[in-house]
Amino acid sequence: MSAGAADLAARLAELKRAKHATVLAHVYTVPEVQDAADFVGDSLGLSREAAGLDPSIRIIVFCGVHFMAETAAMLSPGRTVLLPDATAGCPMADMVSDEDVRAMRREHPGAAVACYVNSTAAVKAESDVCVTSSNAVRVISRLAEREVIFVPDRSLGLWVQKQVPDKRLILWDGFCPIHHAMLRAQVEAARRAHPGALVLAHPENTEELLGLADYIGSTEQIVRHARESKATEFIIATENGILHRLRAQNPGKAFHAVSEGAVCPDMKKSTLESVVACLEGELNPVTVDPAVAGRALRAINRMLELS
Ligand code: 13P
Ligand code: SF4
Repeated sequence: MSAGAADLAARLAELKRAKHATVLAHVYTVPEVQDAADFVGDSLGLSREAAGLDPSIRIIVFCGVHFMAETAAMLSPGRTVLLPDATAGCPMADMVSDEDVRAMRREHPGAAVACYVNSTAAVKAESDVCVTSSNAVRVISRLAEREVIFVPDRSLGLWVQKQVPDKRLILWDGFCPIHHAMLRAQVEAARRAHPGALVLAHPENTEELLGLADYIGSTEQIVRHARESKATEFIIATENGILHRLRAQNPGKAFHAVSEGAVCPDMKKSTLESVVACLEGELNPVTVDPAVAGRALRAINRMLELS
């Protein structure tokens, strides 16, 4: 760690103590932020952590994107949730609106509505249940309805559909631009460069890319799979922030990115500087209209019960 980064980390530790704050970080954030965080995880793990924090915690600094901070704010009422950079959003979450969901419901009366956690609080409020990539199959398979509208991620929806053939998923056309930019040719080139390496992919990848994968899971499931696998070399088909954690936890194993360009710019907006400045000034609080939060929480809590 550079002297500057060490100073910032020390300042952050001091601010956390003084303000009774905790730092939660997604595994796609930059290494210095993951190292300074109190908890690093996937969307489900971060939601669970926010819901179960020690009562003494007053402030959550959420190093991730807006929908994640919104979810933490709803699961942690009474606490202040700060986003280090107010512009950190998720393009996929913005691909469907609450009005789109109401229109889908009118078109398919009798279908349940499941939304991916990568969605706005307003979309969650229109949904019956929320899912993350680590529990989507389990949660959707446990719904009573046979028809399930699924928004916004079509790739995750197609992947779930294959595993729950007794359901009929009605899919929206959203996608993650970062996961969709990873191509078959890049996986094939990585396999040629690293023969014998296992390809670990995320359900947000295209159907074509998932067809090439040895394992598919959420970011946390990828981390666990790499740790528990007897294999020693892996090709990683998700956002490259995860490589820091994979390498730190598995010093004897090798990890290669499918593409050096697999970078989510929004996830990189949380820097050690912005985290310190945000906590210092209590900047960028994320709030959700209580009427929306009440309805969105029903969908989130139903997920937590079913998963
Ligand atoms: P995970 O829930 O697997 O962490 O995924 C979140 C995300 O935004 C993936 O792009
Ligand atoms: Fe959204 Fe994709 Fe970034 Fe995840 S990686 S936050 S889905 S844009």
